[in-house]
Amino acid sequence: MRELLKELRERSLSAIAGAESAEALDALRVQYLGKKGELTAVLKQMGKLSAEERPAMGQLANELRAAVEQRLEEQKKRIGEKALELKLSAETLDVTIPGAEAKLGVRHPMYQVLDRMKEIFIGMGFEVVEDREVELAEYNFDKLNESPNHPAREWTDTFYFTEDSSVLLRTQTSPMQIHVMERQQPPIRMVAPGRVYRKDEIDATHSPMFHQVEGMAIDKGITMADLKGTLSEVARQLYGGETVTRFRPHHFPFTEPSCEMDIQCYRCRGRGCPTCKGEGWIELLGAGMVHPKVLSGCGIDPEVYSGWAFGFGLERLALAYYKISDLRLIFENDVRFLEQF
Ligand code: PHE
Repeated sequence: MRELLKELRERSLSAIAGAESAEALDALRVQYLGKKGELTAVLKQMGKLSAEERPAMGQLANELRAAVEQRLEEQKKRIGEKALELKLSAETLDVTIPGAEAKLGVRHPMYQVLDRMKEIFIGMGFEVVEDREVELAEYNFDKLNESPNHPAREWTDTFYFTEDSSVLLRTQTSPMQIHVMERQQPPIRMVAPGRVYRKDEIDATHSPMFHQVEGMAIDKGITMADLKGTLSEVARQLYGGETVTRFRPHHFPFTEPSCEMDIQCYRCRGRGCPTCKGEGWIELLGAGMVHPKVLSGCGIDPEVYSGWAFGFGLERLALAYYKISDLRLIFENDVRFLEQF
């Protein structure tokens, strides 16, 4: 029996020392110390011993139980420490490793110019409105006093949705004049930026989609002088205080009289250079006094109210503002280009 206990001691203690998990330890505890465990099995044989041998064996058995229990405790602690160590090393944070850079985008240069424009107009008491890009021909043409055979109505120039040419992608932001006047009686001061569409091949100066900004002021006693004063002031705020503007007569069906506004070339100051193609002036926008027919068509009495409107291409303005030569750069969204602004 002494031999049995000795063998059990060696075997159990080394098995426990090799256990690597709490579950394995539990299983060993049951195997050695459990009710049906190996030590119990040995103790059951005590009855066969002589009376002299029994106390010594009993003591040995008790020592063995104590040793196994102690080893179980020690091993449990060791397993716990090891688990903690593993966890800590897995979670180690090296604060000296450079972080992954979160790249911040930039606002598209054209929208930066638009934001600047909006600020200028808001500062003058204008409201910014945006609306649909899919338009009725009625609003894109008819209510703007465009004749039924105006060339812009051709299928070769305009994107239509319906066979009868009644629904289209707006070719200009001018229908916004109509929407605002139908919604609201004067005084009106609004700017309406947005996308417009024309069937143009894409090249350095054309794109089938581009942006316009429409503007309008309607009130009692508004004259052409207000138009010139306001637009000249906007040009000065945008391009600098010395900016010189010029107004040339023009024709639009929905304004009378109509004009175009140029600014003196900011690069050569009017002497003529490649930027202004030797002209000394850069064409910026179309404008005019809102036609009485257009006013009355929207339920505004042209005998009481008058007003002006303008429209310009935003890409063209942004190109000039940043001195960029090719319109396509605006749309390609090459970050190497966009990041420069
Ligand atoms: N809608 C005109 C265009 O696209 C511009 C314009 C707007 C002219 C408002 C006069 C008044 O060319």
